Order: sequence, then C-alpha cells, then structure tokens
Amino acid sequence: MQSLQDKASEWSGVAAADAFAIDDGNIFESLGGTPQPFVDLSTNFYTRVYQDEEDWFREIFAGSKKEEAIQNQYEFLIQRMGGPPLFSERRGHPALIGRHRPFLVTHQAAERWLHHMQQALDTTASIDADSKTKMMNFFRHTAYFLVAGNEMTRQQSQGVACKHAASKPTE
Ligand code: HEM
Repeated sequence: MQSLQDKASEWSGVAAADAFAIDDGNIFESLGGTPQPFVDLSTNFYTRVYQDEEDWFREIFAGSKKEEAIQNQYEFLIQRMGGPPLFSERRGHPALIGRHRPFLVTHQAAERWLHHMQQALDTTASIDADSKTKMMNFFRHTAYFLVAGNEMTRQQSQGVACKHAASKPTE
C-alpha cells in the first residue's frame, strides 16, 4: 500500500528530498535568529485566509480566533525551521494529522491554503528567495500529506465499505 509520504509526493509534485531541504541548513538562524520573519509570514497568511472571498474556505477557520491561529502557526514554523521548540512547549506534540482531523482537508482546500501561502511568502520582505523556495516545497508536500492523512482518518472512522464486514442478509 502507498504510504502517506508517497501520496504526498505524488499529489504535491514535490519529492521528499525537496520537501525536507529545509533541514539542509538552519532557516531560523539564516533569517536572523528571531521570531519576526515567521510572525510576519503567519500574520500575512492568516490575514488573507480570514478575508478570503471563498466562503467555503474561510468557514474552515471559523472556529479559531485569528490571533491564536497566527501564534499557533508561527510557533510551529519557528520550531520546524530550526528555532526553539515554542510550539511543543505550549501546545504539545505537533501531531499534524490528528490536529487537522476536525477539518475537511481536501485537495481543493490544500490548493487554496497553498495559494494564500504563496502570496504571503511573495509579500514577506523579511524572508530571502532561497528560504522561500524551500519553505514552499515543504508547505506543498505537507499540505498533501495532510490531505492523505485526512482521507485515511475519515475512512477509518466511517468504516471502509467492504464485503468482509457485511451483515449476512436476512432470509
Ligand atoms: C491549524 C486548516 C495545512 C499546520 C489549522 C487550523 C485549521 C487548519 C482550520 C486551526 C487553526 C488554529 O486554531 O490554529 C488547514 C487546511 C490546510 C492546512 C485546510 C490545507 C492543506 C497546513 C499545513 C501546515 C499546517 C501545510 C504545516 C506546514 C498547522 C498548525 C496548526 C494548524 C501547526 C496549529 C495546530 C494547533 O495549534 O492545534 N490548520 N491546515 N496546516 N495547521 Fe493547518
């Protein structure tokens, strides 16, 4: 069976080696070793998300306060890009698939998320071009990893329809 990582690579078009090129150096340090570039990026991203003209996408985030969503994201990004473990200290293990379980993370939602993230990166001056490319590859791969994980957890919770578990028809 295809692993979630394999599905993420196939659906995103980003090979695992490119997705994890963020680990070749330390992006947090190369951006100056302060939270600011990540605060800038997450504020830029969520400002776009919460103003999205597409209702169906905006509504996915309706249960979260914008300021909290911004902090959750930049703390995760700081930690993942080589900085201090701010996210885990406050929120616990990232467990991204489990945390996205309540939301409908479809291919369409991934593309909309990535559209806003690309625009946010394009307009964040405190991040250099090379880091932007690496981060976008990581985001594309992770977004489709979450789509694959979301499909899997939904199939598990609904039960996959199969003959093995069918009730015997009454005679
Ligand atoms: C949180 C949706 C992709 C990382 C959330 C939340 C929603 C959401 C609705 C709750 C907001 C909050 O309260 O923090 C989606 C959708 C995606 C997506 C529809 C489309 C694929 C991603 C990607 C990443 C990511 C690609 C990482 C690279 C996170 C993190 C949190 C979060 C770290 C905070 C979790 C927490 O603190 O509990 N996401 N997300 N998400 N997402 Fe996503």
